[in-house]
Amino acid sequence: MTDRYAVFGHPIAHSKSPLIHAAFAHQTGQDMTYEAILAPLDGFADSVAAFVAAGGRGANVTVPFKEAAFKIAQRLSPRAARAGAVNTLSFAADGILGDNTDGAGLIADLTRNLKRTLAGQRILLLGAGGAARGVLEPLLEQQPATLVIANRTLSRAEELATLFGHGIRAATFEAADTPFDVVINATAASLAGELPPLSPRIFGADTLAYDMMYGRDTPFLDFARAHGAATADGLGMLVEQAAEAFYLWRCVRPDTTAVIASLRA
Ligand code: ATR
Repeated sequence: MTDRYAVFGHPIAHSKSPLIHAAFAHQTGQDMTYEAILAPLDGFADSVAAFVAAGGRGANVTVPFKEAAFKIAQRLSPRAARAGAVNTLSFAADGILGDNTDGAGLIADLTRNLKRTLAGQRILLLGAGGAARGVLEPLLEQQPATLVIANRTLSRAEELATLFGHGIRAATFEAADTPFDVVINATAASLAGELPPLSPRIFGADTLAYDMMYGRDTPFLDFARAHGAATADGLGMLVEQAAEAFYLWRCVRPDTTAVIASLRA
């Protein structure tokens, strides 16, 4: 029987995940389907339960259900536990396993696709919400020289810095005003077409500015480019987090390069 997978979100119509996983399945010869499911805002757990009852083997979870997915998981991978959020569910005989592949996706995109070494580098992470928290541990594992979390609400950045330790510094946007090697935008500002009040001094000639959002140029990327930084959107991260989920479910690593290229085209 063909194995069923899905992505749950709200909204979900514009999700690229079905396309990405169909490409992975085709490429690796896996017998599986992958659909997009619009879960009601107050009905995520029921929606997942119905999918499991219908034979679902695994699922991805996107906005706004990553914390809800964390709650319904009966077991958590260590990285999901630290992230406080789940983007990948596996439905096994002994229950629901929750994992989080977002951080691994970001690291794979930065290091493999964009050829950036993060060890010993100065990293500025913008935002202190769920998206930022989800990538903190994998970023720390790369052993950067400095990791600063800058956020509109300083107290949220301070909370994350305390939670994750390792000498992370918390700052307001305005207070971060020295050059960084990599600046990652994990705020929701790009979604609203807004630019956080950043100092242009965070960008140097070798800075990479990375926006976790994908699909269009954001005010953040425009601003970074205008101040001499190289830029990248989050499409590579999207494909890489999908590849990591695919690997968890199918024990096969798809080739992401061709899939990223075809999505860009
Ligand atoms: P997500 O899961 O996408 O991270 P979230 O947990 O609601 O969503 O967090 C949103 C993040 O984007 C927060 O860091 C938020 O800043 P505050 O903590 O001050 O709320 C940030 N954010 C949202 N809109 C923003 C804007 N227009 N400018 C700057 N930061 C913004």
